[in-house]
Amino acid sequence: MVKEKIFIFGGGLQAKLAIDIIEKEGKYDISGILDSFKNPGIKVAGYGILGPIERLSEISRKFNINKGVIAIGDNYGRLKVVKQINNLLPLFEFVTIKHPAANIGSRVQIGPGCIIAAGATVNNDCIIGDHCYLAFKSGLSHDSCMGEFSSLGPGAITGGSVQVGTCSAVAIGANVLNRRKIGSFSVVGAASLIYHDVGDGVVVYGIPAKEVRKRKKDDPYL
Ligand SMILES: CC(C)(COP(=O)(O)OP(=O)(O)OC[C@H]1O[C@@H](n2cnc3c(N)ncnc32)[C@H](O)[C@@H]1OP(=O)(O)O)[C@@H](O)C(=O)NCCC(=O)NCCS
Repeated sequence: MVKEKIFIFGGGLQAKLAIDIIEKEGKYDISGILDSFKNPGIKVAGYGILGPIERLSEISRKFNINKGVIAIGDNYGRLKVVKQINNLLPLFEFVTIKHPAANIGSRVQIGPGCIIAAGATVNNDCIIGDHCYLAFKSGLSHDSCMGEFSSLGPGAITGGSVQVGTCSAVAIGANVLNRRKIGSFSVVGAASLIYHDVGDGVVVYGIPAKEVRKRKKDDPYL
């Protein structure tokens, strides 16, 4: 089988995780990494940095590659890079990568640009938007929805029919009761229990989770 060639955007720890998934999945051939902050030539898990994202048009022409995945753990960071890439090359396509040890149920829809790590489980009838990240051992229970650029941290688990809004992060080990809604651009802190719905643009944590503060879209949380 001829593998499709792709780029990875971002050369940090998330790139190493993405490389492991891509190598195990065996569907894509990594031609290199674009990173605006690392020098060209540096290797990340054996793959070279080709240049900054700003030079995507030229690098894409040189390698004749028009596909890739963004390996940036911060949800808003991923969103910003997608906008940057769309401005540079509107026809650039994003691929979803999925570790072979992830479990995906029936009738699940997954948008482009997602990263699904080992041991993540997505039950039946879920919808996962573009550029989401499901970390290892996270679990999205049946009929749930993840908005674009949202994430489930390691071991974060939802009950059924949960909605996670655009760009929101459910951090490591948090639990979300069934039918709860988490707004957009919010962060559910590590090991929290979501009993009440969560609004837009807030940080919540604790058992049960309480609103701790408002947050701006680009406030760091990792
Ligand atoms: C929500 C989060 C961003 C808050 O972190 P923070 O901004 O540094 O914390 P704050 O400044 O708001 O508050 C600090 C206080 O709140 C407490 N606190 C922070 N997060 C908490 C949580 N999830 N549950 C309970 N208490 C928490 C701290 O113990 C600290 O208390 P202290 O002042 O008595 O020592 C952080 O808890 C979190 O979940 N980060 C994401 C981690 C993650 O998912 N990593 C995965 C990597 S793959």
